[in-house]
Amino acid sequence: MVHVIYHTKTGHSRKIAAAVADALSVLAKDIKDCDPASLEGLLFIVSGVYADKTAPELLDFVKRLAGRPVTAVLISSCTAGLTERKDLVNALRLSGIRMLPETFVCPGSFLFFRLGRPNLADRQRAADFAVRTARLHGIA
Ligand SMILES: Cc1cc2nc3c(=O)[nH]c(=O)nc-3n(C[C@H](O)[C@H](O)[C@H](O)COP(=O)(O)O)c2cc1C
Repeated sequence: MVHVIYHTKTGHSRKIAAAVADALSVLAKDIKDCDPASLEGLLFIVSGVYADKTAPELLDFVKRLAGRPVTAVLISSCTAGLTERKDLVNALRLSGIRMLPETFVCPGSFLFFRLGRPNLADRQRAADFAVRTARLHGIA
């Protein structure tokens, strides 16, 4: 099984998640409408970075993932080119969720930085990454 979930404040992660889910022939789910107990297999988590942090709602969702047989793949949307997602990685570790080393960072506009991003090409790159990663792990 493969799942794509997202959390968004300004809509970018929703668009990226939709492109990723479409490429994997599944539906992207907002964490607000997703029961962690329904998840298993490869789990793409698409989310933004705010003041170098992950939204508390997503960290709380990851807490509730504890015990689920899922392997997480992180797709981050942010203005900076690089992000470590220390808080998110730590929350996954505390929940006992395995995380793949492959991650993807997709540019996202904020104020006058990275205007127009994520654009169509960004979303396509995220989708290609997801398909490659899923294939590598025997799915899709
Ligand atoms: C309040 C706020 C704080 C942000 N802080 C950062 C930051 O520290 N580093 C960064 O790279 N991007 C930062 N950004 C940019 C967001 O990560 C970027 O716009 C991302 O695409 C947002 O995803 P979303 O639309 O799914 O919420 C910030 C955006 C907002 C709104």
